[in-house]
Amino acid sequence: MADEHHQEGRKSPPAWETLTFSLTETDFMYQSCGEAESEPVWDGGKMVPFSDITVSPAAAFMSYGIGIFEGLKAQRVAGDRILLFRPDGNAQRFRKSAERLLMEPFPADQFVGAVRQVVRSNLRFVPPAQYGSFYVRPLEHAVEPKLGLGSCTRFLVTIFGSPVGNYFRGGAQQGVRLKVLEQGRTAPGGTGAAKTMGNYAGAIYVANRWKKEGFDDVLYLDSRHVKYLTETSGSNAFVRLRTGALVTPPLDDQILPGITRDSTIRIARDLLGIDVQERALSIDEVIAEGVEMFCTGTAWTLLSVREIVYRDRKIVLKAQDARQEILEILRSIQLGERDDPFGWIVEV
Ligand SMILES: Cc1ncc(COP(=O)(O)O)c(C=O)c1O
Repeated sequence: MADEHHQEGRKSPPAWETLTFSLTETDFMYQSCGEAESEPVWDGGKMVPFSDITVSPAAAFMSYGIGIFEGLKAQRVAGDRILLFRPDGNAQRFRKSAERLLMEPFPADQFVGAVRQVVRSNLRFVPPAQYGSFYVRPLEHAVEPKLGLGSCTRFLVTIFGSPVGNYFRGGAQQGVRLKVLEQGRTAPGGTGAAKTMGNYAGAIYVANRWKKEGFDDVLYLDSRHVKYLTETSGSNAFVRLRTGALVTPPLDDQILPGITRDSTIRIARDLLGIDVQERALSIDEVIAEGVEMFCTGTAWTLLSVREIVYRDRKIVLKAQDARQEILEILRSIQLGERDDPFGWIVEV
């Protein structure tokens, strides 16, 4: 076990009160190699010191972006326990993303075991609950040297972590401003439902222009009709209508099935009795009927959207009640402060 070789003092955790959503290098990371033509495909994996990785310049992902990632959080809670939130959900999505890029899917139980090892071997980097959490970033890349475009057989899974604080600073943490874009995040039939490198690479340029104009992020319409809400660069969207219904776009080829999205739906529906509708929601309906909007994600948690701008129209969404009620329950489950009726919590 890596813990036994722990070299205290080699790297320093940051001052907890200064945490933001940025990288702090930790002591150890996990690696496992996969070879499609061997049985079993994946080796047992091992913990190694956090360090640079050496790959061939011809490694397929370097040219073709054949790579995926995940993001999940471990939370230190009362009694010095550390809890993971729905790691099996990330494990399953990691498999689906791999399949979409014709990579070997990594076994879900090995994924959860590896995530726990990464947290355990970096315990001194897990912040106290009031300051933040330990974000775990699993990756899978096609690493075989290859010139032509085609299916690959050699893969590398790497899992590292970092202590993090809030994703946004200052006012944005109370509510973000989004620019509604008349374009899709991903192509029809593309990789939108998978967490692939390329989805994010292309989105930086798109959001950058609007961030310079003071927006926190962009909200994409769908790429088939350019009419219906999909999601932001890194979170799912919910809108509460005048009728009281809470609507979120249905999962399709352009939407990442967020674990926070699913948790929000289940808390709202099963614990709060809210009428949750997974259905197409046009921007016109949001303008006419929307009273509250929020985004969901592991990094964003549940974040209010206080304003959206569509064409030259500014739409202010004042209400925050549904988001507050849902977030309070979600946080108390994640902190082990209330029953976990859905079986979401896994102790490290
Ligand atoms: C495009 C996109 N949508 C939604 C989400 C939210 O997913 P989750 O709640 O699993 O973090 C993410 C973050 O992973 C994302 O990158």
